Amino acid sequence: MPSLAALLPLVALATASQAFVTLPLNPVTGREGAYLKGLPDADRARVKLLKSRASSGPTTVPATNLAYVQYTTSVGVGSPATYYNLVVDTGSSNTFVGTGTKYVRTSTSVPTGQDVNVTYGSGYFSGVEYLDQVTLAPGFVIKDQSIGDALSWADFPGVDGIVGVGPADLTVGTLTPDVDATIPTVMDNALKQGLIEQEILGVSFAPATTYSDTNGALTYGGIDSSLYEGEITYTPLTTTYPAAYYWGINITDSTYGTTPVFTDSTAGIVDTGTTQILLADDYFDNYIAGIPGAYMDNTTGLLVVPSSSVAGIQPLNFTIGGTSFALDAAAQLIPEDQNIAWGGSAGVQYGVVGNLGSLSGEGLDFIVGQKFMERYYAIFDTLNSRVGFALTNHTFSTYSA
Ligand SMILES: *[C@@H]1O[C@H](CO)[C@@H](O)[C@H](O)[C@H]1NC(C)=O
Ligand SMILES: *[C@@H]1O[C@H](CO)[C@@H](O)[C@H](O)[C@H]1NC(C)=O
Ligand SMILES: *[C@@H]1O[C@H](CO)[C@@H](O)[C@H](O)[C@H]1NC(C)=O
Ligand SMILES: *[C@@H]1O[C@H](CO)[C@@H](O)[C@H](O)[C@H]1NC(C)=O
Ligand SMILES: *[C@@H]1O[C@H](CO)[C@@H](O)[C@H](O)[C@H]1NC(C)=O
Repeated sequence: MPSLAALLPLVALATASQAFVTLPLNPVTGREGAYLKGLPDADRARVKLLKSRASSGPTTVPATNLAYVQYTTSVGVGSPATYYNLVVDTGSSNTFVGTGTKYVRTSTSVPTGQDVNVTYGSGYFSGVEYLDQVTLAPGFVIKDQSIGDALSWADFPGVDGIVGVGPADLTVGTLTPDVDATIPTVMDNALKQGLIEQEILGVSFAPATTYSDTNGALTYGGIDSSLYEGEITYTPLTTTYPAAYYWGINITDSTYGTTPVFTDSTAGIVDTGTTQILLADDYFDNYIAGIPGAYMDNTTGLLVVPSSSVAGIQPLNFTIGGTSFALDAAAQLIPEDQNIAWGGSAGVQYGVVGNLGSLSGEGLDFIVGQKFMERYYAIFDTLNSRVGFALTNHTFSTYSA
């Protein structure tokens, strides 16, 4: 039975005080050296790339809401490709296979001589690193992608690994002996190899109606305007650490009904690999104080809402980039027919909002997880260092237990 996912790699949190390397921008005026000497060739190569890019629009692939608590997508590795169901994780950046279907080596599989080891909020994997061909969609084939072959692991039930689409800096410290190496993500390589024009990932999730519901979509290289409604609201990536190691943003305030949950701008992260919506403990206390009789069940780690309080659930709103994003009652409550999949008991009303286990003021005071993105389209825009959200046709719905 799958457990609630919390796939943040602890490596970044553990090294939060470590200075990160900033790459200088290449000055465009510094026209000398190999680039200039090879100019005609370089120009031809550039034209070829530009032309190939002209035909490389965004590519949308399906994603599956698995057991209500995680999203997977099918990723091919090798030639001929073996297909793996990988958790889509914006909160980590290593891509690996082997926790279900074993890694099948083909002529495109090249061992790198590196060991790999990543510890997540729940679970870990360790194994060996390869370069291999990775197929994200038909005709969308990344060459020489660094991937892990998981040889030991914990907590990846029912899935074959992760496709990590967080910032590449999160991979530092995951290889041995090259502990200082950064591993380019599939997004980084897709851009470099001209498969996408813009390093942008569009994420469309939706509430599942069955245990394995292919109701989601990932757009590599842009956004898909058929998957959201109205305007996109963007907010810049936060500069507050440790949130800034991830897809971190600031939320300027939050209310439950008319009660403040927090009133000062605070940093946190947007993470498809975390199932719930998590708030710093003091913020969470403000939230549940508004729900009569609600309490944290220590066995499941889930909020319990007395049935007498269900009808009175108020919108939980977050102001992001000047726009209020509301979660209605349906977005805050777990349909009771999903209780077992969430690790709960029958006949209890659970909520999807949880607490982080630490107080606010630590630079990572919320996690906007899968359950938020089941309501709002999300855009992870590396090109412009920002995250976007938009309404969907399933942002609001009527709750029925
Ligand atoms: C992986 O890393 C964890 C945490 O740093 C460590 O406890 C574990 O021994 C490592 N496992 C392997 C196989 O290197
Ligand atoms: C909602 O939008 C999705 C994606 O565009 C579409 O497939 C679906 O039919 C829409 N549902 C409704 C109820 O309009
Ligand atoms: C983001 O939140 C942090 C607190 O977590 C705060 O120190 C910082 O000033 C905020 N940034 C902006 C731009 O509001
Ligand atoms: C749950 O655990 C917390 C902290 O350990 C404790 O204060 C609280 O009383 C527990 N709640 C229940 C309902 O057992
Ligand atoms: C929360 O959002 C809902 C739905 O958009 C809106 O009706 C309500 O006024 C908002 N509440 C506050 C306090 O902004």
